[in-house]
Amino acid sequence: MELDWLLAPPLPEAMPRQRVLYLRLREAILSGRLSPGTLLPATRRLAASLDIARNTVLFAYEQLTAEGCLQADRQGTRVASLALRPAPASSDPRPPAAALRLSARAMAAWAPEPAGEVAALPFAPGTPDYGAFPFRAWRACLEGAWRDAGWRQLGYAEHGGDPALRAALAGHLTTVRGLAVEPAQVVITSGTQAALDLCARLLADHGDTAWVENPGYLAARVAFALAGLQVHDVPVDGEGVAPSERDWCDHPPRLIMVTPSHQYPTGRVLPLARRLALLERARQAGAWIVEDDYDSEFRRAGPAPPALFGLQPDAPVVYVGTFSKTLYPGLRLGYLVLPHAIAGDFARATVQAMRPGQGIEQRALADFIRRGYYTAHLRRMRARYAARQLALRSALKAAFGPAVELSGGEAGLHLVMWLPERISDTEVVKQAAEQGLGVRALSSYTRAPMRCNGLVLGYGNLAEGTLADAVRQLARAVRSLSAGKNGAVRGRP
Ligand SMILES: Cc1ncc(COP(=O)(O)O)c(C=O)c1O
Repeated sequence: MELDWLLAPPLPEAMPRQRVLYLRLREAILSGRLSPGTLLPATRRLAASLDIARNTVLFAYEQLTAEGCLQADRQGTRVASLALRPAPASSDPRPPAAALRLSARAMAAWAPEPAGEVAALPFAPGTPDYGAFPFRAWRACLEGAWRDAGWRQLGYAEHGGDPALRAALAGHLTTVRGLAVEPAQVVITSGTQAALDLCARLLADHGDTAWVENPGYLAARVAFALAGLQVHDVPVDGEGVAPSERDWCDHPPRLIMVTPSHQYPTGRVLPLARRLALLERARQAGAWIVEDDYDSEFRRAGPAPPALFGLQPDAPVVYVGTFSKTLYPGLRLGYLVLPHAIAGDFARATVQAMRPGQGIEQRALADFIRRGYYTAHLRRMRARYAARQLALRSALKAAFGPAVELSGGEAGLHLVMWLPERISDTEVVKQAAEQGLGVRALSSYTRAPMRCNGLVLGYGNLAEGTLADAVRQLARAVRSLSAGKNGAVRGRP
């Protein structure tokens, strides 16, 4: 048998001969080029014909025999009978695309969302001011955490999270958010997304219905759909989430995801009466309310309205928070606050469902909160973001006319600028993207039959020096679509 090709050039650089021989033989067997049952030359003969040491051949044969590609019998070494695919008809070695795909659930849940680089563009929502991050204080806490680290911090994180962080957070939420929280009620997660995923998997069963706000946070839909829940869109009106009688009767929920303190993305604040009504109906329906308090830290208009979680001690509410915006999204740390009745079981189940980690970062964060750095940072950023929003408002009014319709400024890091029907928000976003802006279309957060037309303008990372230019570019994008009009923009549906 002619086997010269086994070591024919070109040979990969710096790879030992025995490895090349092994790889080429294996490839020939798995591709069917050497058919099952083929008797290979004896090691001595093959070594002589390839002009290499016998040990080199021995290594390759032994390795392939151990892997099951070759079999030794009385006559010698043969290619084993393996269940091989027939060679592809075309010369393209890639499998047909349809064969390699995500689950139907994942494909249906997919919502294209800009990430990475796009997040740093002017107007990209949900992005904090990276330039104002307290690098030095954070580094000191991280170094301290590493200095004091023992082997325990190298393993999975403790169930529920690092005890020091749970305690620091409970204290912070009690003093700053007015929630009476004990450390045992806190479960540390890898951000909101992991928290929502855990709620979907641990509080609902496959096929249960999860309500999401419409317009609402797209990633919540994705988390629930991927967990096998039926996602049902509930309309948002001028005061926040507004389920109808039909929603309650025709789509009884198991999970109700809400952002009552500052609806995302419209910025509506759910009045107390509606909060209490929602709690009551959720109890009757046997549903869990998942309260994402995402935007509460950066309030401008007085203290945040009381969280649903704190309204009634035994309410079926889990409270979700994150450090993505108050510190940085890549930290991937967030938390859930749970009613006493389920806190212990939930924390234990988290270990099975997630294998939590980031023990060092958790310790550093606990220290960061304990030393007062976190509160000081929040205070500083609140003032900075408030000034930035003011500057953005006046630049928008100057560019689009005083009647421009803005909402959502009571808290958070973005404003919504409503557009009249004649100017499509998705078209504006396309034009703006060409100018390097990360603005998002309000309609992209909205599901039919609801209709919203506007721009979600993040200003967290919009430094004062770039704000005027960014607004000018945005105005250019809008005007190019409202040619012939005077440029004044007004209109909420
Ligand atoms: C409503 C809402 N909640 C939470 C988050 C943060 O998610 P995470 O903690 O997974 O980064 C975002 C980010 O944009 C958001 O818009």
